[in-house]
Amino acid sequence: MKNMQLYAALMVILCSHYSCINADKNKRSQMNTIEDPHSFADLSGTRLTHLEWDAVIDFDHRKIKARAQWTLDYVKDTLILDENGLRILSIKDQDGHLLPFEEHEVDSVRGGWIKVLLQPKVQKIEIEYETMDRPAALQWLEVSQTMGRRYPILFTQSQAILARSWLPCMDSPSIRFTYNARVKVPPGSLALMSASNPQQKSPDGVYSFSMTQPIPSYLMALAVGDFEFRAISERTGIYAEPEMVYSAHYEFAEVERMIQAAENLYGSYLWDRYDLLVLPPSFPFGGMENPRLTFVTPTILAGDRSLVSLVAHELAHSWSGNLVTNATWNDFWLNEGFTVYIELRIMEQLYGREFHEMLAQLSFTKLEEALRTLPADQTLLKARLEGKNPDDAVGPIAYDKGYFFLRTVERKVGRKAFDEFLKNYFETFKFQSITTEDFLKFLRKNLLKKREWEELEVDRWIYEPGLPENVFRPSSTRFSMIEGICASFITTKRPPITKNWSAHEYIYFLQNLRGRVDYNMVHLLDSAFDFTKSRNSEILAVWLLLCIEAKYTPAYKTLEAFMTTTGRRKFIIPLYQELIKQNQKNQAKEIFLKAQNNYHPITYNSVAVLFD
Ligand code: BES
Ligand code: ZN
Repeated sequence: MKNMQLYAALMVILCSHYSCINADKNKRSQMNTIEDPHSFADLSGTRLTHLEWDAVIDFDHRKIKARAQWTLDYVKDTLILDENGLRILSIKDQDGHLLPFEEHEVDSVRGGWIKVLLQPKVQKIEIEYETMDRPAALQWLEVSQTMGRRYPILFTQSQAILARSWLPCMDSPSIRFTYNARVKVPPGSLALMSASNPQQKSPDGVYSFSMTQPIPSYLMALAVGDFEFRAISERTGIYAEPEMVYSAHYEFAEVERMIQAAENLYGSYLWDRYDLLVLPPSFPFGGMENPRLTFVTPTILAGDRSLVSLVAHELAHSWSGNLVTNATWNDFWLNEGFTVYIELRIMEQLYGREFHEMLAQLSFTKLEEALRTLPADQTLLKARLEGKNPDDAVGPIAYDKGYFFLRTVERKVGRKAFDEFLKNYFETFKFQSITTEDFLKFLRKNLLKKREWEELEVDRWIYEPGLPENVFRPSSTRFSMIEGICASFITTKRPPITKNWSAHEYIYFLQNLRGRVDYNMVHLLDSAFDFTKSRNSEILAVWLLLCIEAKYTPAYKTLEAFMTTTGRRKFIIPLYQELIKQNQKNQAKEIFLKAQNNYHPITYNSVAVLFD
């Protein structure tokens, strides 16, 4: 425990205020009953409503030094904030008076709390702080790790509970706030945030931002580097390192059409601009829906726009997730299940029904595998993540089981009624954070009659493991054909003729061969299709899994290059797992040693546990 003398002072004042706190408790119980197991903040107490953030980004020392001024909605005189590994220098009120505070570290996942003692007249608090070693949200890239090799790069990834590693805040998705920021970076670099953004570099390296819509802390984002802007439409554009802007601009040219498709279905886009930032390959995810500025991995630049459903996904979060937000990480399916559903509807609008069905079938395959392999208690839509890292919920249950629940409801009531319902849902709950139970109440009131509810087995879908029998089962004719082609390749050992196959057909073909190939078959396929040289990261990732399975060493140079440059967890974790499963743990370890400096802390930690 730090700040003992302040703590003592705090206790004295606290005790004298005891009766007053008790009165607050009564008021609180009528106000809010949300409990977030991943935040120490008192959600029914004093809340933070607005942030003024003033920061200096110090690349030499890999440090952010900042002042966070929070506006309060005062309810009672202790305020608890989340933090993880921050050095708190001082906390003052709006008149510059020091406020007593106490800090306590709990564990490495949740970090710890800061307890600040307030008085009713305190309207704002100003926290001066700096980051210490390796905050989990931040990746610092040296000049040599960038494409242009001129300026270093910094980017953040706050979801799920990492915002607290670079900003002391109430780090629960049930708390929303607006913000303004002033960020100083080395001249020559551009700074970008999940807010209004500059399109040009400022000569003195100082940038101002404003986010006028209230957002939860996990959507706080910052990126600094040698980024260039290129417009796509009036309200959309690309930021990327100059070497990548051109190809990114080509790849994402359809984003304006995607926005229009989503707006037709679910109402206006309410965040002003929609831009994309293409990060270096070490970005740990495919994409992150930071408001106004989606962050994406460059691994979706396939050159043929075949992987843009990921952009549709992040864009879809502008409704499901950013507008209507899961109140806790146990309700994560409200963010991701709805987003997969909207993503597929956008893709259908642009590319047709058969394409939707193909994506749905890929999703079903992932879901079936997850249900086969996960313990039953991890297959509930309403998750139970108490005591766990909410990152563990990122997987097919929230995404794919969530999607199939909505698809099953859609089939029951018809598309027209379901579309109207969803539009109404976003209108009703916009800029709010809600629980699964809030959604269910709304569903019961506005869409499903009692009988339909029972026939759909809604409660079973949400609160029980596995998959109800009534699930909508996708059927893609193209994919059924490919299943046949796989079977015949396995018996005849003759590679198929694949004229006019799309990327997703190759992906499905290769996925279907998992667990069914030997060295010779992999060699035959490589000679016929040159998969080891594929530019499509989704094809390459599943291909490399087959190569490991068959110990097809001619692909191992590519495998190592892929695993050392790409930090996208979804690709590299299965590759490490497969190496370990196939008795190639030493090889896996060697790759990890070479790769570790290129990984974001999120990826680093996920790989490191495989070697424990
Ligand atoms: N919001 C998620 C990423 C995320 C979730 C990060 C939870 C940390 C914790 C994002 O929208 C997402 O789902 N990304 C996917 C892509 C999508 C097409 C399934 C990814 O990164 O693979
Ligand atoms: Zn998502």
